[in-house]
Amino acid sequence: MLMMFQQLVQVCQVMVIISFSSSITSLASLLHPGEVAALRQIGKTLNEDGQVSFNLGDRCESAGNVTIRRYVTIKMNGTIGCNCSIADDKFCHITSFEVKGYDLSGRLPPDLANLTYVERISLTANGLSGNIPGYLAKFTGLTYLILSSNNLVGTLPEALAQIKNLTDFRVSDNNLNGTVPEFIGSWTQLRRLGLCATGLQGPIPRAIFLLEKLKDLRITDTPGPEFRLLNVPKKMDHLVLRNINLNETIPEEAWSVGTTLDLTFNKLVGELPRDQIRRQFTFLSGNMLTGTVPESFIQNKQYL
Ligand SMILES: *[C@@H]1O[C@H](CO)[C@@H](O)[C@H](O)[C@H]1NC(C)=O
Ligand SMILES: *[C@@H]1O[C@H](CO)[C@@H](O)[C@H](O)[C@H]1NC(C)=O
Ligand SMILES: *[C@@H]1O[C@H](CO)[C@@H](O)[C@H](O)[C@H]1NC(C)=O
Ligand SMILES: *[C@@H]1O[C@H](CO)[C@@H](O)[C@H](O)[C@H]1NC(C)=O
Ligand SMILES: *[C@@H]1O[C@H](CO)[C@@H](O)[C@H](O)[C@H]1NC(C)=O
Ligand SMILES: *[C@@H]1O[C@H](CO)[C@@H](O)[C@H](O)[C@H]1NC(C)=O
Ligand SMILES: *[C@@H]1O[C@H](CO)[C@@H](O)[C@H](O)[C@H]1NC(C)=O
Repeated sequence: MLMMFQQLVQVCQVMVIISFSSSITSLASLLHPGEVAALRQIGKTLNEDGQVSFNLGDRCESAGNVTIRRYVTIKMNGTIGCNCSIADDKFCHITSFEVKGYDLSGRLPPDLANLTYVERISLTANGLSGNIPGYLAKFTGLTYLILSSNNLVGTLPEALAQIKNLTDFRVSDNNLNGTVPEFIGSWTQLRRLGLCATGLQGPIPRAIFLLEKLKDLRITDTPGPEFRLLNVPKKMDHLVLRNINLNETIPEEAWSVGTTLDLTFNKLVGELPRDQIRRQFTFLSGNMLTGTVPESFIQNKQYL
């Protein structure tokens, strides 16, 4: 910590000497001018009808400690993360863009693509309209892309297949059309996937159920052909597959889910196993399961 502090002080001193600036902090916090311009434009595009007071700052503000990363905090629930040492230039760069629940009515702004160093994007619950643009694929380093609860339409563009490092992708509660794309099954780093009531249709690619790192998988209300769930990743925390036309029996791995298992409103048949897992939530109604409810379900006060 002390070494970091000393290094930071040295860096600041060097900059002061070079620029004769009187303000160390303002110099150290300068955002790249291209990103400042992009932020302004993004603010306008998101808030198309000008109904919301929405301004994005133009510097990477000090968090008041010796962390390198700082946040431009905008009013309400948003965080725009920035990092002043991510690139080999004298500027700070935006690394995350998370603006949730703002009632913005605009479209996804093309100028987002100018924020070259962004790793996390979340625009949840904003009422955004229009398509999901293919330019998002420019962010090959993106790990987090959350667009749930908007009014987005159209298909999930094929270009998104290139974002191979995604660990969290959610696009629930939109009005998309087309089918669930195969490429989602090639995002091998995914830990969380949310495709609830997207508007998309099945078939749901089998490769999705083979993604080994998945801990939280939620797909609901996706009409399509009946299919048998052959396997799911082992030891998941949450598995919600509701109303997606699953038929035949429940695969054994499903019973190893830790917290939430919801397979309601499918065409599943068969008997419940002697479930040993102490799981908080188990929902299986709306199927054609037979036999008796094992003791372990009742002892654990599970919901059926
Ligand atoms: C974003 O980048 C594009 C392409 O380089 C450029 O045409 C556009 O003007 C940039 N946007 C802003 C707001 O600077
Ligand atoms: C230090 O910075 C981090 C993030 O940059 C922030 O979460 C934290 O609250 C800051 N600590 C203080 C004492 O300001
Ligand atoms: C900022 O970026 C540098 C270089 O990539 C990285 O080492 C550092 O951990 C980042 N800082 C934060 C707070 O993420
Ligand atoms: C802000 O976040 C808090 C906690 O995460 C949440 O309860 C609240 O509803 C959010 N406000 C808006 C405007 O999204
Ligand atoms: C994806 O992640 C790997 C491992 O963390 C990293 O080496 C690689 O550079 C990342 N790819 C991109 C395009 O950021
Ligand atoms: C999606 O909806 C649009 C507009 O309603 C339509 O033109 C397009 O053909 C649809 N695409 C698919 C794959 O259904
Ligand atoms: C389950 O769905 C598959 C794929 O449509 C079908 O081949 C199979 O016959 C169905 N099983 C039953 C028991 O209906």
